[in-house]
Amino acid sequence: MRHATCIFTTTLVVLLAALHSIEAHTQNGNVASRKWHPNTIPRRGNPLGSQSRTITSRLSRFAESLRTRSLKKEGRRDPRLGPGPGPDGAVAAQNRARALASKGHVLEKRQQSSSATSTATSSAPNATASANSTNSMSPTWILNDVYAGTTFWNYFSFFTGADPTNGPTEYVNASVAFGEGLAYNNAKKQVIMKVDNTTTLQLGQYRKSPRIQSYKTYTGGLFVLDVERTPYGCGVWPAFWTVGGNWPSNGEIDVYEGVHLSTNNQVTWHTTPGCTLKPGGFFGRINSTDCDTAVNANAGCAVTDQSYSSSGQTLKEIGGGVYVMQWDDSGISVWFFPRPTVPNDVTNLNPDPTTWGIPMAHLSPEDCNVVQHFQDHVIVFNIAFCGDWAGATYLTSGCPGSCNNQIMDPSNFDESIWIINSLRVYTNAYLQAGELSGAPLTRGAPPSVLRSMLMGLGISALAVVSSVWL
Ligand SMILES: *[C@@H]1O[C@H](CO)[C@@H](O)[C@H](O)[C@H]1NC(C)=O
Ligand SMILES: *[C@@H]1O[C@H](CO)[C@@H](O)[C@H](O)[C@H]1NC(C)=O
Ligand SMILES: *[C@@H]1O[C@H](CO)[C@@H](O)[C@H](O)[C@H]1NC(C)=O
Ligand SMILES: *[C@@H]1O[C@H](CO)[C@@H](O)[C@H](O)[C@H]1NC(C)=O
Ligand SMILES: *[C@@H]1O[C@H](CO)[C@@H](O)[C@H](O)[C@H]1NC(C)=O
Repeated sequence: MRHATCIFTTTLVVLLAALHSIEAHTQNGNVASRKWHPNTIPRRGNPLGSQSRTITSRLSRFAESLRTRSLKKEGRRDPRLGPGPGPDGAVAAQNRARALASKGHVLEKRQQSSSATSTATSSAPNATASANSTNSMSPTWILNDVYAGTTFWNYFSFFTGADPTNGPTEYVNASVAFGEGLAYNNAKKQVIMKVDNTTTLQLGQYRKSPRIQSYKTYTGGLFVLDVERTPYGCGVWPAFWTVGGNWPSNGEIDVYEGVHLSTNNQVTWHTTPGCTLKPGGFFGRINSTDCDTAVNANAGCAVTDQSYSSSGQTLKEIGGGVYVMQWDDSGISVWFFPRPTVPNDVTNLNPDPTTWGIPMAHLSPEDCNVVQHFQDHVIVFNIAFCGDWAGATYLTSGCPGSCNNQIMDPSNFDESIWIINSLRVYTNAYLQAGELSGAPLTRGAPPSVLRSMLMGLGISALAVVSSVWL
């Protein structure tokens, strides 16, 4: 027995060394032949040849089974399964309406001069300072755009069209927003966007509210939104989202969205036909899986956070938190970190998603060609009222009266306010090089995963050895 284990361990060590050298070799080759950013590693596609891909996936499966077995043995929960149910219990019955979200977003018809996409100057304060990742094996996300403080407004335009979601919302222009205190920086220089909570309306009148969209467009990136508060209240429907000019062909990603007194963020993707949410690989609860806007009354494919502090009043009570959306060849993932658990690498402006565990929501490229379905997105913040989702679900929301009556009384909207610390957008060498290709849908493990897998394998091997001997 002892002899067998010894051979086993030796074989492992040899395999690890071999893989390591293949990996290093491939990286060097890539650095020579392609224009990599000096501080980054090759793209997230399989950096190895097809032969090593097979070895890698076999080893990966083996490591996985060892890992699961040893965790099971110790009665531990796999940390990659995420934080588990929220503090209030994950399955508390909510007798909320289940009517379908139907955002039907359309973009403002921008005066599409060249200014629309070129006016935004990328601010990259000390971007190079964050370029040297502590983990040289994982892709480096480089800070590219900072939207915060008093300059925040320079990079957004105010949408003034009719509410595309058919609610009694009057989207105001910049002069009204700034003039009437619906958009401003507070003493702490935080970005405030709120709705009119001073005007009493007649039945049928619309309430004033801001909706802004970035001049700059993105195809891919790491979007990090740090908020202190998100809007909530009966009849209120806020969202932080990205959307392409040609909706739905260029897709829509709702990173943050909720209605009424919701305390659980909902992430939703809306696309043309052929994009489906693949279950697994994330811990949020699935609402729906077909992202096609033409089915289920445009419910999209949606995932609801299990964290009861990911939205609204509970979010406010914990001092807010950070939402992250990662959009690249690996698909589109969303994490939410309540204030007390924001990772240091996020705070230090050196984010490394590979260290965060599985995301709350993930749109896998396996069942949705992310490259084809999501392109050239602007960033949008808005606060809508009633309409397709908040209106349709009002009567079953536990809120008083009707949505149309609720909208009249300004005191109902005191909590309808965004308090934003910052929105930072990071990019990496592949995205900068326009290499979001989506080509390798059956990819092998990227280098960082490979490395952690090897480490896992080593640890698992030790566990096996010790469980045999001890
Ligand atoms: C999604 O599911 C959650 C419960 O998991 C529910 O509260 C929410 O209303 C659902 N969203 C829609 C649009 O039906
Ligand atoms: C950039 O670095 C300089 C020098 O270290 C520092 O004074 C400045 O505040 C930094 N700027 C930002 C936006 O972090
Ligand atoms: C990043 O790495 C390069 C090359 O190793 C080094 O010259 C540079 O000083 C590093 N920058 C920081 C901010 O650590
Ligand atoms: C902004 O909207 C108000 C109210 O509709 C209108 O009176 C004003 O002329 C607009 N300002 C600009 C600059 O468009
Ligand atoms: C309107 O809402 C803001 C933000 O919540 C609040 O500070 C303010 O007191 C409210 N105004 C009135 C008149 O209640």
